[in-house]
Order: sequence, then structure tokens, then C-alpha cells
Amino acid sequence: MKKFIFDTYEEVCQAASELYVQQLKEKPGTVFGFATGSTPVGLYNELAKKYKAGEICFSKARSFNLDEYYPMKKDHPQSYDYFMRENLFDKINLSQFSLPSGEAPDPKAECKRYDEEIAKAGGIDLMLLGIGHNGHIGFNEPSVAYSMGTYLTKLTQSSIDANSRFFGPDEVQPTQALTMGIGEIFFSKKIILIITGEGKAPIAKKLFDGMIHTDVPASFVLLHPNVTVFMDKAAAGE
Ligand code: F6R
Repeated sequence: MKKFIFDTYEEVCQAASELYVQQLKEKPGTVFGFATGSTPVGLYNELAKKYKAGEICFSKARSFNLDEYYPMKKDHPQSYDYFMRENLFDKINLSQFSLPSGEAPDPKAECKRYDEEIAKAGGIDLMLLGIGHNGHIGFNEPSVAYSMGTYLTKLTQSSIDANSRFFGPDEVQPTQALTMGIGEIFFSKKIILIITGEGKAPIAKKLFDGMIHTDVPASFVLLHPNVTVFMDKAAAGE
């Protein structure tokens, strides 16, 4: 594991974006795994800037997102589909992107279809992860058993509370999601984990205490042979 700690969130995003430049130079047809939430927004802005400046090209790349609320209409402003278009896909030249569909009538069939699509693309080359306050990655919540492939999961109250900031008072917030499983995340060739902000300091402290905590899903990521962690000083408790 490589771990880099920067003074600020902006520096984290800048440094992480350099890995994307490098990755696309090495493999223009990279299969990316993308995350949503507040953490990757700065990185997505950097990627959009680099694309505009002609420093990066996604024309041969493709991507799969980690998760989507269920049920969720694609065009709902809180859908992860909408989030990705607004924060990244509308600003770069990536035309082949997929998310699990929150509109699918049969979630089990949709998970199977999504896993098959990922496998057909050759798996994820570079997976981007944020971390929940409870240690979740994607929507793999703390548990005693973890899924290999994409599945329909119930969100914990802590995740529902954490994401309630994105929903208006009259909006119904979903309590379930379709998410890639821990196994699928783990089989990515490379992983980038970004942890920023003071609020993430307690979970970061537990994550890096030298133990693999089975109730911290992100712990499994630390066993991966090619993982790069980017943190700011606030999350590192400095
Ligand atoms: C969402 C996802 C989640 C988030 C996590 C942190 O696609 O994968 O695991 O990364 O909930 O969210 P933020 O970045 O909003 O703190």
C-alpha cells in the first residue's frame, strides 16, 4: 500500500488526478470504477480541467460506477447517474459509462447483468473509492459476511443519515441500493482510496491501526496488492 498525506483536499485531488493521466497514457482503453459522494468531486473537477486543457483523453476508456440507489429514477437529481453526468460525464469525452440501474424491475437480474457487463469489459483496471463514516465502501455496509458480486443491499441508518444532506425535506430518501460487492472491488487491478476531512479521522484511525477489522469493509482493501491511499491532514488527524 502506498499512502500519501497532503495538507489540503485540493492537493489530494490534484495528486490523484495525476494517476489518471498516467493510467490513460499506459492504457487508453482503461476500465475505470467510479464513486459518488462529496469525496471525488474535486478529483472529477481536476479531470474535467485536464480534459479541457488537452492533457487527458477518455475516448477509448469506459467506466462502471460502484452503486446506485434502489429504486431510483435515472433522471432524479439525487440519482448517482445524474450525479455522474453533472460532475464528470458531461465534462469529458467518456461515452461508454455504466451504472447499476435503479429503475430495473428485477434487482437480482440487474445485478447479474451488471456483473456480466463488467466481466465482458475485462474487469476494472482502476477503482476509485471513498469511505463512509462507518467504513463502508460502495454500499457494502459493516457486516459479518460480504458479497462477491453486485447485490441489493439495505443501507444502515448511519449511511442514510450521512446522505440525508443531499435530499430535500419533501424528497423520499431510498433505504436500499445496488452495489458492487467487496469481491468485485477487490478484483480491480488497482485501487485508489481517498479519505478527506476531519469527520473521517475516526474511521481512518481504525483503518490504519495495523489490524484487519471485519466490521470495517474498507479493511479488505488494505490487503490488495496495488492500492494507493490519498488523505488530507484533517482525515489523518494531523
Ligand atoms: C458512493 C460510495 C460511498 C461513498 C462514501 C463516502 O458511490 O461509494 O461509499 O464513497 O459514502 O461518501 P462521501 O464522499 O460523501 O463522504
